[in-house]
Amino acid sequence: MFARISDNKGMSERVIPLIDQRLAGLATIAADSVGGQPVLPTGLLSDALGRPMTDLRISVTDRCNFRCSYCMPKEIFDKDYAYLPHRNLLTFEEITRVARQFVAHGVRKIRLTGGEPLLRKNLEILIEQLAALRTVDGQPLDITLTTNGALLARKAQALKDAGLQRVTVSLDGLDDAVFRRMNDVDFPVAGVLEGIAAASAVGLGPIKVNMVVKRGTNHEQILPMARHFRGSGMVLRFIEYMDVGATNGWRMDEVLPSAEVVKLIHSEMPLVQLSPSAAGETAERWGYAGANGQHDPSLGEIGVISSVTQAFCRDCNRARLSTEGQLYLCLFATHGHDLRALIRGQASDEALASAIGRIWQGRSDRYSELRSSQPPSTGSSQRRVEMSYIGG
Ligand code: GTP
Ligand code: 5AD
Ligand code: SF4
Ligand code: SF4
Repeated sequence: MFARISDNKGMSERVIPLIDQRLAGLATIAADSVGGQPVLPTGLLSDALGRPMTDLRISVTDRCNFRCSYCMPKEIFDKDYAYLPHRNLLTFEEITRVARQFVAHGVRKIRLTGGEPLLRKNLEILIEQLAALRTVDGQPLDITLTTNGALLARKAQALKDAGLQRVTVSLDGLDDAVFRRMNDVDFPVAGVLEGIAAASAVGLGPIKVNMVVKRGTNHEQILPMARHFRGSGMVLRFIEYMDVGATNGWRMDEVLPSAEVVKLIHSEMPLVQLSPSAAGETAERWGYAGANGQHDPSLGEIGVISSVTQAFCRDCNRARLSTEGQLYLCLFATHGHDLRALIRGQASDEALASAIGRIWQGRSDRYSELRSSQPPSTGSSQRRVEMSYIGG
């Protein structure tokens, strides 16, 4: 299969073979085809809507040991599914080299994702390499990782020793039957809680716990989860089920708006809204109130991530690097920019940085904001990238 694509100014056109079935219908753009003046890394890069690039999410594998129905449904991701061959994956050295150029443009936070990132062999070595990078003002990066927790108990200490600062663990409920059904590989809640405890014990905090809420599937787990994590020092975040990718059969009536989540929790455990802790944050923060009606820090806080009912594209500062070195400008992108071809094609660091800079400068993506006027195009010719391929 081939994709015929042109750059976003219509200046050049390339034909690129597509080999991964997940990418069938998904275009890739040669990273050096966006023309213009060289863009030097000054740490002050901004896109066409004035948004800086401060957050880089790196997917290190397209595989996962879970089959969450909202992400990697079993019917599609079965034993015959064609995962990426190893040679297509960026090596740790390649990832670190390209990450260095992102950091020179202003990235301050790196999140490792997957699939399930802990399935990538020797991940600690990559973390060590990334931990040695410094921001434009000489600070260490905020290095974090999103995991389903299944392998966390075994790996927490090595991750910490390598320089990982914190982890975010996905957990969709405390009821064992509900959770086993949602991960669809019969993995028990206790295994994830063990992982969280191990991460906490080695100091991989503050730990965040992400729960995707699907109405009719796990909405009854909202209160038990809130009760469990209140006062634990961990931040539980409720995520609206999104129409990401093209395989999860998303339906609006399965989305439980965050406003309802807040109302439900507030009715039992009073909440007060907190101000954002950083620009461009995904989550709206709500603190548990004490007897005086004020936020009581000892009870902690929750977050709600409302990409369906309240888009947060305006300040979106997140760049995404896929397992095979495609740069994606939006979680809902229909094409990636092929940085691997530059990396493996003898491009200098300056050329690599300049390509990244030009691509970001041309970025105007704001899918979630536009969603209401453009209904989801699942199954259409504008095939979107899967979350398991570029990570959350
Ligand atoms: P922290 O720095 O720990 O606060 O992380 P984060 O909230 O930036 O990242 P995380 O990966 O934990 O994001 C939580 C969830 O929010 C993801 O799993 C996605 O479901 C959703 N999400 C993250 N980034 C985006 C984004 O850019 N767009 C949309 N629509 N959803 C996002
Ligand atoms: N909607 C919302 N979040 C999703 N994730 C994966 N698929 C979806 C979806 N359809 C996020 C979850 C999970 C992380 C790995 O990716 O937060 O914890
Ligand atoms: Fe795996 Fe996370 Fe996707 Fe579930 S949501 S299938 S744990 S990558
Ligand atoms: Fe950013 Fe795209 Fe998500 Fe909007 S939809 S917040 S632009 S990744």
